[in-house]
Formats: sequence, C-alpha cells, structure tokens
Amino acid sequence: MKSLEGKIAIITGGASGIGRETTLTFLKEGATVIIWDINKTNAEETQKLTGEHTSVVEFMHVDTRNYTEVENATNKVFDKHGKIDILINNAGITSDSTLKKMEPEQWQKVIDVNLTGVFNCGKAVSLKMMEKNSGKIINTSSVVAHNGNFGQSNYVATKSGVIGLTKVWARELGKYGINVNAVAPGFIETEMILSVPEKVLEGLRGKTPLGRLGKPQDIADAYVFLSSDKSNYITGTVLNVDGGMVF
Ligand code: NAI
Repeated sequence: MKSLEGKIAIITGGASGIGRETTLTFLKEGATVIIWDINKTNAEETQKLTGEHTSVVEFMHVDTRNYTEVENATNKVFDKHGKIDILINNAGITSDSTLKKMEPEQWQKVIDVNLTGVFNCGKAVSLKMMEKNSGKIINTSSVVAHNGNFGQSNYVATKSGVIGLTKVWARELGKYGINVNAVAPGFIETEMILSVPEKVLEGLRGKTPLGRLGKPQDIADAYVFLSSDKSNYITGTVLNVDGGMVF
C-alpha cells in the first residue's frame, strides 16, 4: 500500500527544487498533486518528468502572495476533488543583504512570499479541511530559523515566523483533525543555494555531522512522513532535516 494513496495534495512552489522532487515523490506514493506556482515553464518541466503519472499532476498559476487568488484556487481544487488532504507550504525566496544594506522593499518582498504566502494558503485551505475534519499542513522553515544567518534578516524573520504559525495553527486546528507541522531543511542542493560560494558550502559540509549537503529527496521524504498516517499523533513540531547541523 502506498503511503499517500488517494490523497489530494497542494504543493506550493512545486515547479522546481524541493517542490519538484516532492511532487514526483508524492506521485510515487499515490497522491494526486496540484502545483501552485508562478513559474509556468518550470511547472511544465516538472509535469513532463512525471512520465506515466502526468494526468495526476495539475498546475495552477497561483501567486501565493495574493489572498484572492489563493482563495479562488482553493475553491476550484475543492470543487473538483471534493476534498483537500494535504497542503505543503513550500514556496519561498531569498533576497540577501546585511542589515546595513537591506532596503525596506527587499525586506517586504521576502515577507510577502515566505510569510504572507504561508498565511494565505494556510487560511484558505484549512477552512476546507475543517469542513472535512481532516487534513495535514506542513510549513517550510529552515535551519537558519534556529541559528540566524549572516545577511538574512528578512529570510530568517520569515522562517522563524513560520515556526510560530505552525504552533498556533496546531493549537487552533487540532480539534478539527488537522495536524500542522514544520520541516526545517538544512542546506539543500537546489537553485536557491547556487549563489553561495563553494568555499562557504565547504564550510557548511564541515559543520554537518553527516558530512554532506542535503538533497531535495531528503526533504521530500520528510514531507511524505508528515503527510501520511504514520504521523497521525504528531502536531506542532519542527522536524529538522539538516544532517545534524542543529540539535
Ligand atoms: P526554489 O527556488 O528551487 O523553488 C521555490 C519555488 O517557489 C519556485 O518554483 C518559485 O517559482 C516558487 N515561488 C516563488 N514565489 C512564489 C509565489 N509568490 N507564489 C507561488 N510560488 C512561488 O527553492 P527551494 O530551494 O526548492 O526551496 C523550497 C523551500 O525550502 C523554500 O521555502 C525555501 O526557503 C526552503 N528552504 C530551502 C533550503 C535550501 O537550501 N534550498 C534550505 C532551507 C529551507
């Protein structure tokens, strides 16, 4: 039996990186996946990679910063499938600068996607999950929420904020049968860290007990666990998937 058989899953940011790997992994586990992303080209690329499973991956152009768009998309998914079992709040961006150089617009840009986007999707989708008294919401934090990171005031604020949202929602939504957890990835080999100099990456590997950076599959597997019935008694927690960088 596949662990997500028959489940309807929305994956934000499913067009690339961790989200793409998660889409492919969820399909193998039997889920129908709806990708919400703003990058159509990459989403179509993800769909092609699904091969025989193409029919069970839908792409919807949804800018998670916009509540009306999110609400409309939520209604469409619910009307079509009759339920939403899983929300993976994975879309995220960086825009790094030291506090000295960070422009207010740069601060706001990251808040809008990484925090407001998570709120928008969590609110709209949980309303539908409440109707069914069932659901799994997984928010994407980061190892930097625990440790801070040079040049990332905006990003760290959002990733710490996501942990706060996870704990509030776990308390509020438990009575509706909805589990809410967060995954805090370490440094994962995706486009997002391509801009990090190799010397810095080497230093990060050195600080990781398992001696390597993470792969998108490492995070996708954690998302599967927290979306499946194997984690039914887990809520309000932050699962670090970082090779042991933080414990
Ligand atoms: P990525 O850049 O490969 O993928 C992010 C996706 O989000 C892209 O497809 C992008 O189009 C989409 N997106 C951006 N803004 C959006 C919006 N307004 N509405 C809808 N979709 C939007 O990034 P990656 O590396 O796969 O990261 C995924 C998540 O994991 C992010 O939340 C990131 O902060 C988090 N993370 C990543 C780490 C890493 O080392 N790669 C480490 C820790 C956390």
